[in-house]
Amino acid sequence: MQFGYKTILNINYTDKMRHTKVKDLLNSTTTLHEVNAKGWVRTFRNNQFIALNDGSTIDNIQCVVDFENTADETLKRITTGAAISVTGTLIESKGAGQKFEIQVVKLEILGDSDAEKFPIQPKNKPSLDFLRENAHLRVRTNVFGAIMRVRSVLSFAVHSYFQEKGFVYVNTPVITGADAEGAGEMFQVTSLPLDDLPKNEEGSIDYKKDFFGKQTNLTVSGQLEGETFAMALGQIYTFGPTFRAENSNTSRHLAEFWMIEPEVAFNDLHDNMDLAEDFIQYVIKYTLDKCPADLKFLESRLLEEEKSKPQADRSELALLDKLNFVLENNFKRVSYTEAIAILRECTPNKKKKFSYIIDEWGADLQSEHERYLVEKHFKCPVIVYDYPANIKSFYMRLNEDGKTVAAMDILFPGIGEIVGGSQREERYDVLIEKMKVIGIDEEELWWYLDTRKFGSAVHSGFGLGFERLVLFVTGMTNIRDVIPFPRTPMNAEF
Ligand code: 4AD
Ligand code: MG
Repeated sequence: MQFGYKTILNINYTDKMRHTKVKDLLNSTTTLHEVNAKGWVRTFRNNQFIALNDGSTIDNIQCVVDFENTADETLKRITTGAAISVTGTLIESKGAGQKFEIQVVKLEILGDSDAEKFPIQPKNKPSLDFLRENAHLRVRTNVFGAIMRVRSVLSFAVHSYFQEKGFVYVNTPVITGADAEGAGEMFQVTSLPLDDLPKNEEGSIDYKKDFFGKQTNLTVSGQLEGETFAMALGQIYTFGPTFRAENSNTSRHLAEFWMIEPEVAFNDLHDNMDLAEDFIQYVIKYTLDKCPADLKFLESRLLEEEKSKPQADRSELALLDKLNFVLENNFKRVSYTEAIAILRECTPNKKKKFSYIIDEWGADLQSEHERYLVEKHFKCPVIVYDYPANIKSFYMRLNEDGKTVAAMDILFPGIGEIVGGSQREERYDVLIEKMKVIGIDEEELWWYLDTRKFGSAVHSGFGLGFERLVLFVTGMTNIRDVIPFPRTPMNAEF
């Protein structure tokens, strides 16, 4: 085989992998004498035109088969879903919509796909629900290919942002003894036999006999361990899986999701908000730059989906305009107290349209309230800060007023809460007092308390739910569609 075009296409060949990515073929600047592509058949028309996709791009490459000189046996095996290898000439395409196509000289079926049985048939457009049940195959569709490429680029953007800024990437433990959020929504981890649990003298489960000699769970957040690292390395971030056994069967909750948690020594709440805003704008910009074709495709998908919705429920902006809007506009910052005043006076509250009516200061904001603030009132991303202490976590710093904490949530259109963060309580006495009131065991968190005993300092951080970010950027509406294999109540297939 001739590899004279190696330099033109800027491809690194190894002996084993000599085929060229569809993306590179489509981006070629010249016709090429001999190329090889490998991928999966999307469609096969007129016994002649194969639309081949290899996942490198949303676009298929058209491969034109010389059917008169191809065995019938082979032609029959060119079915949707089959893996094939085509060798031929890259020529300028006469058809509309593509610059190049492959004139096939040699075609090899690598893996058959029974046309009767392959569940994803282009003719009858499969629903998102159906595809969710076939999550192992849905990535072979345009929509999921686009989502998963965007997800990959977004996660690289996360690292790129923090690495450029000199943050240290920390891998906090997945198995832990601490309930970082104090919300008790944890999956237990045990190696004890569940049908024959060892008991202690009081008759309760004897965790001393468990694998770790104590009760453990899957982490709900890496924050507490992250804080200890920030108090030595200055600026750190985590990016890992977190687990919550909350029975929330919504389009925005997963039992297993990925969270990004930066933590910065000497940052106060306002620095924290600045960091979060700058970070979100950076990763969106990065993805807009790197994934134009996928985002364009997702934009038209959303437009199509919304055609069946009443006008009032459609997005005001198309996907790309919405993403650019977030880049170009500052997030609106309001205190919880101001937010409550707005909500108390708003029409849906007065007309009792909300499921939870806001009548006094201290009420927790439900997603209907968050979405009202963002989508109807401010019409832009909103940061709500200084929440009542008793609806927020124990580690948040108590403000001078003695009743609010230096917390902040970032609320996004169509999503609701995308970020939760705070300035941390760095004063040992105040923290201990708070833990006592809430009933958090000091002994469990002795190591966390040590950071307040030795060289404590102002510090802040936040957690961003990665899938909620992917939801926003892709314009998808169900969080189960932006993670490869979603885990939700009653569902852990694959
Ligand atoms: O607001 P949360 O619970 O905050 C924390 O866990 C803090 N320890 C973060 C920190 O300060 N380091 O969660 C943070 C974010 C939420 O804003 C949301 O985006 C996401 O995590 N999140 C979920 N995403 C998907 N499914 C769930 N069940 C989620 N729960 C939280
Ligand atoms: Mg939160």
